Amino acid sequence: MPLEARASQALSGRVRVPGDKSISHRALILGALAVGETRISGLLEGEDVLNTAKAMQALGAQVERTGAGAWTVRGVGVGGFAAPREPLDFGNSGTGCRLAMGAVAGCPIAAIFDGDASLRGRPMRRILDPLALMGASVSSQADGGRLPMTLQGARDPLPIVYRTPVASAQIKSAVLLAGLSAPGVTTVIESEASRDHTELMLTHFGAKVTSANEGAHGRKISLTGQPELHGANVVVPADPSSAAFPIVAALIVAGSDIVLTDVMTNPLRTGLFTTLREMGASIEESNSRNDAGEPMAEVRVRASNLRGVTVPAERAPSMIDEYLVLSVAAAFAEGTTTMKGLQELRVKESDRLEATAAMLRVNGVKVEISGDDMIVEGKGFVPGGGLVATYMDHRIAMSALVMGLASDAPIKVDDTAFIATSFPDFIPMMGGLGAEYA
Ligand code: S3P
Repeated sequence: MPLEARASQALSGRVRVPGDKSISHRALILGALAVGETRISGLLEGEDVLNTAKAMQALGAQVERTGAGAWTVRGVGVGGFAAPREPLDFGNSGTGCRLAMGAVAGCPIAAIFDGDASLRGRPMRRILDPLALMGASVSSQADGGRLPMTLQGARDPLPIVYRTPVASAQIKSAVLLAGLSAPGVTTVIESEASRDHTELMLTHFGAKVTSANEGAHGRKISLTGQPELHGANVVVPADPSSAAFPIVAALIVAGSDIVLTDVMTNPLRTGLFTTLREMGASIEESNSRNDAGEPMAEVRVRASNLRGVTVPAERAPSMIDEYLVLSVAAAFAEGTTTMKGLQELRVKESDRLEATAAMLRVNGVKVEISGDDMIVEGKGFVPGGGLVATYMDHRIAMSALVMGLASDAPIKVDDTAFIATSFPDFIPMMGGLGAEYA
């Protein structure tokens, strides 16, 4: 369904955006691999996570919804997945699919992995290569390591030392999840640290995981295999990647003043906050606390005059999903914003480098892609008036619907359907803050 965003009055109010997507997937998967009961509160009930819940059920775990955001999982124990009778359909979700591949790779079963047209176009070799070293194999696949494919898990998984070719929490997590079934220590080395939710949650469920700095920006993570994972309670904090949309909206709509509660502030996820503050944004954190190793805080955002900045490539892993909405802030800033090292954006739910440039251009913003860098010419205003193609990508739809709240002419998106993958209440929640959509 198409939707149009229009210039809005000052946004105000206090909201909690939905639970963190990364943590929600992991809570279901670790719950399914643990012995005993895992109780999750604040689970993101978006389509991506619901597909992971179904997959865990198909693999033998008992997964039950007991209330809004409240879920109980009774797991099968490490290595205990049963062969699913039907293909596992992960819809739009690379995270659900790739983490589940790692978990299945450590079990002596075969499973068919599939997804929607967007996920079928995304690279899986990066996951399959290390899993093959651990003893898993692919018995059938579409061209070039794409879905659908049948993954045969290892009977006797081997622990490995793996240096990831790209800083990706999905690759790291797949290897660690397969390593749960291997005897001895599985090690992942990444040259730039990616989000560490898997490591933190594995520790919370009783596994032994160590993490040490490696080089200037990297990490070396080691997991001792064959642990007794026990069920645990998981409180899912609000997703900073979803919070990014109301945050940028409040910054660009004059007079806005909003508060977001329980926002996860893990430093490996808050590169956007750092960048926006460098641009002059008023973003204040208070009431900081910690749950199961994950920090969270209340975040107050007030409309601000922004200026262009250069975002260094090494910051990319900590804000990899936020460049689309950052480009919106950059368009409303005064001066040039240069975002470096964005090659990974080409293999997300869409080619986000091209899709972001197209979103800006069709609304009168000057943008250039130079190699793996994106350069946005901020003029302090956005003409708007464009129809934005969303390419089955939730974050393009939400970014465009934020941009239209402060552009001179309304901005339309061609399809809002995929917003439900990560932020089902986006439109009513933004509406409650004062956003005008029609
Ligand atoms: C995620 C990792 C990121 C991110 C994705 C969620 C995760 O992907 O883009 O939305 O939960 O591990 P990569 O780590 O592969 O870049």
